[in-house]
Order: sequence, then structure tokens, then C-alpha cells
Amino acid sequence: MTDSLLRYRPEFPILAHTTYLISNSLGAMPRGVYDAMKGYADTWANRGVRAWEERWWMLAVEVGDEIGVLMNAPKGSVSTHQNVTTCQAVVASCFDFSGKRNKVVYSDLNFPSVMYFWEAQQSRGARVHMVKTDDGVTVPLERMLDAIDENTLLVPMSHVIFRSAFIQDAKAIIEKAHKVGAMVVLDTFQSLGSVPVDVQALNADFACGGVLKWLCGGPGVGYLYVRPDLGQKLEPKFTGWFAHQNPFGFETGPIRYGDPPFRFMNGTSHVPALEAARPGLKIIGEVGIDRIREKSRRQTSRLIELADKHGWRVNTPRDPAKRGGTVSIDMPDSQEVCRELLKREIMVDWRPKAGVRMSPHFYNTDEELETGISAVEEILKERTVAAR
Ligand SMILES: Cc1ncc(COP(=O)(O)O)c(C=O)c1O
Repeated sequence: MTDSLLRYRPEFPILAHTTYLISNSLGAMPRGVYDAMKGYADTWANRGVRAWEERWWMLAVEVGDEIGVLMNAPKGSVSTHQNVTTCQAVVASCFDFSGKRNKVVYSDLNFPSVMYFWEAQQSRGARVHMVKTDDGVTVPLERMLDAIDENTLLVPMSHVIFRSAFIQDAKAIIEKAHKVGAMVVLDTFQSLGSVPVDVQALNADFACGGVLKWLCGGPGVGYLYVRPDLGQKLEPKFTGWFAHQNPFGFETGPIRYGDPPFRFMNGTSHVPALEAARPGLKIIGEVGIDRIREKSRRQTSRLIELADKHGWRVNTPRDPAKRGGTVSIDMPDSQEVCRELLKREIMVDWRPKAGVRMSPHFYNTDEELETGISAVEEILKERTVAAR
């Protein structure tokens, strides 16, 4: 069988000398980033302060739109930020937690940074309700739905769980939230670029994520989608001059909010990171998320099959419809095994209560899956011999 997506391999230099199975953490760098960074330096060097007017000011919006296309967000509905935690802070700053509707519901499998942020909002009146997992892999849907009630203000939820790649039923959760007057902040960090996301079909209130994993865009760019009707109404208190109707008026006094997406930004934007993000976004757009998903389902199924053959514990849903792009395998001594794999140029990571996370992307060959698994087998064999 020929795999047409493999023609993108030469675009990613690291694939020539490693087995790169870690796109859940940091996607491979497209070689176009060298030119993008050179272009950035040339612009700064040669155009100086004129670069703001000529290119940099609008970059935050243009990159937002490039990300937005991938999740069917209307033009102008996606602002860019440094990371997901900042996006949560922008959303939180739109609301008042002093009233009765101050409950924030999320799963204990959410990404910890997001949980730390919301836990900390308790001193501002937020009431956190954490829904517990039973198996460390899935979030019980009924328990989530039951927790969302008339006192719920926000539901910050991961679309795909970072530890297990479990896909949460965003549609059902959003529907329940809307039924009781709550709003959902959908964290698409582990889905967008690997699993289809359609913020309009889901009727998401907010969606946020970053580009450094499945979108091959590097660190420093987070994105925040705000549903257009909300975007016109909400007033983030975490704000700044980029959000002003007339930023170059340098007015004193309170902010007069401009339109989205600038309305949800604050200070000077992160220009180099925005430039670095573009080559990856272009490639992902060209490859297409449906083709990525199709291949990902096949390759993650193969990884599970191989892990099963060795009798290793798989901490990832077996149903491909409920599984994102990662397979978490908890073989014996998994943390040590992970260290050894890295020494052998097999790029994976390890997470507590998950094991070794292996995440093939559109640029991986099927042989690389076998390479990764055979290396684990070899490492475990060597450890057994050494222990004798
Ligand atoms: C689901 C999810 N959300 C958020 C983050 C990271 O948040 P931040 O961009 O604030 O570092 C990660 C990173 O691994 C993640 O997997």
C-alpha cells in the first residue's frame, strides 16, 4: 500500500535521524521555519519600526484565521495568545464569580495547568466541581452531564485527554451546558491537527489550544476562538491596548473595546512565534485533517495491536472513534524504558498514570511503529538479563 502522506517527510529535518513519535508533545519542525525566521530577522533588520504597520500588527489576526480555518471558525473569531493558560485567563476575566452562578465544572483528567488556573480562581469566588475518572483513561459522561447544573457558569474541558487520548463527547457536554445556561471552554490542544474539530457544528462558546503539538507550529502560540455573538458582547478584564477601539489614540481612562479578535488580546503580540507557526499551519492545511485522522486511526490501532501482543497495559481507548492520536502504553518499568528509548533516538515521552506515550503523525511510516515497539522489547530483554 502506498502512503501519499509520506511525501511530506523531507519537509521535516528531524525525521531523517530519529524515530519521531512525539507529536502529542512537540510536532516536528517544518524546514520552512528556517526561512520564516530569516524573514522575520530581515524584516526587523531592514524595515525596523515600519514592520509593525507593514506586517506585524495584523499577524496576530492572520495567524488566528489560519488556525480558524482548520476548525471551521469564521474569519475574525480567533485571537492569538502565548499559551492555553493565558486563553483561560482571558475567558475567566470576562465573568464575575460573586453571584450564585459561579460553579466551574471539569474532569480531573484535564491538563494540570488548566486545573491550577481554575483552582486559583476560587479565591475570586469560583466554585470548582471536579468530576472524577474511574479508570484513569475515560471521563464518565453521565457524571459530567449531571455535574453541570443551573449554578454552572463555565465548563473548561479537554476535547482529547492528554494522558489517555480519550475523546470526550463535546457535543453532549455543550448541549447540556447550554440547556442550563452555562458555557463551555473547549481545549482542543490535543485534538486540532489530529482529530476533526468543527466549532460551529459543536456550537462551542470558546475553544482554545496551541500550535506546538499536532499543528507543527512551535512554542509560543495559543489560540482562542470566541463564538461571534459572544465576541461582540463580552468584555475581558484582562485587557490592554491591542483590544482598544483606537489603540493609537493612546487615550487615558477606561478601555473602549474594539471588535474581535483584537478585543480578546491585550499587550504587544508575540511576533517571532507567530512567524514560526505559519509553515506548519500551511502544511497541515494542505494535508487535510481528514487524511491525518484516517491514518492516525490505522497507526494507533497497529500500536495497540503490537502492545497487546507483548501483554503490555494500554491506557488508551480501544475504540478508534473514542481515541485521539496517542497510544499510552504502560509496560514494566515504563519510565526507565522511556529514558532508554530517547537515548536510542526514539522520541516519545512518559507521563505518570499513563506510561510511554507514542503519537504517530501523518509523516510517520508504519515501519517506525515497529521500530519503536521492537526497541521497547529489546530494552526490556536487556533489563531482565542485567537483573539476573
Ligand atoms: C490538553 C492540553 N491543554 C493545555 C496544555 C498546555 O497548556 P499551556 O499552553 O498553557 O502550556 C497541554 C499541553 O500539553 C494539553 O495537552
